Amino acid sequence: MRILTGIQPSGAPHLGNYFGYFKQNIDLLGEEENLLMIADLHAITTLHNGDELRNNRQSLAYDFLACGFDNSKGTLFFQSAVPGHAELAWILSCVTPMGLLERAVSFKDKVQRGIEANAGLFIYPVLQAADILIYDADTVPIGKDQIQHIEMASDIAKKFNNAFGKDLLVPPVPRIVKDVAVVPGTDGQKMSKSYGNTIPLFEDEKVVKKAIMGIQTDSKEMNDPKDPDTCNVYQIHKLMLDSSEAEALANEYKEGLSYGDGKKRLFDAFMDYFGPMREKRVNLIEEEVRAVVDEGAAKASAIANETMDRVRTATGLQ
Ligand code: ADP
Ligand code: TRP
Repeated sequence: MRILTGIQPSGAPHLGNYFGYFKQNIDLLGEEENLLMIADLHAITTLHNGDELRNNRQSLAYDFLACGFDNSKGTLFFQSAVPGHAELAWILSCVTPMGLLERAVSFKDKVQRGIEANAGLFIYPVLQAADILIYDADTVPIGKDQIQHIEMASDIAKKFNNAFGKDLLVPPVPRIVKDVAVVPGTDGQKMSKSYGNTIPLFEDEKVVKKAIMGIQTDSKEMNDPKDPDTCNVYQIHKLMLDSSEAEALANEYKEGLSYGDGKKRLFDAFMDYFGPMREKRVNLIEEEVRAVVDEGAAKASAIANETMDRVRTATGLQ
């Protein structure tokens, strides 16, 4: 079993990214063959600033290591360090029907949010298909928003196989990560960089505290009973607790724990949970991080080259 996952280097990671992405991918390490890709080619569909991209992708490699990525159990690499991704994306785009791409929900969403509709953004799912197919990855652990992209990768693999030869590429299966609810942001919507409602993992303590203290709550008085199910502070706090601790905290809210005290407790829980990762991140050495992604690129390239050999031969490009 080979697992591939990708994440765009789009800025400082937050609690939603940790519980929705980093944690389960780190937990999966070692169980199967794991490839973790920093999708810098995808990022340039919307980020047109060289320094920022270079900085973001380097920073994301630090984040992975701080969150527990272990180089002996997985492969961490920059997408652009394996040139086969872009080459395969081009080849796949030549068997991908326009209609398939026109149905992509994420393209429509992005354009609706005011992002420029460039051709790269339109063929984003083809590059994502190449990411997966180049490693013969059978499983892709993802959140619900990515299901359509994996289904498209599967359709594109079948189109390619129909055109050039049976079993050349392996249609992947999406693996929906169970138990991962959408982490709410400080305003109660989905936590996301695009909504400015995040609690960042690795920013200065003051920034974290300000974000936590700014979590929106309803207008219940200090000692009024609160409903933990609708309380953003509780919903975020429980991610860092085991089930009996979460139940005890829910009871305290029902008995009238004030939102102010609840937020202070959340801040302490955040520091307990993420303190060791924050410390690890500060102590990482640049050479060490660079060596990890370089080694990752070499391991990934060895697999990718085999697939590209097959693809180039089948298509007549060699
Ligand atoms: P953002 O919305 O902040 O730009 P991304 O879209 O780059 O985050 O998401 C990176 C990864 O983190 C994806 O796998 C996504 O499913 C996960 N993720 C992002 N926000 C949340 C959230 N609020 N709850 C759960 N998972 C999330
Ligand atoms: N599109 C994914 C996202 O925005 C990132 C990604 C790029 C990816 N290539 C991938 C995810 C391949 C899984 C497999 O979250």
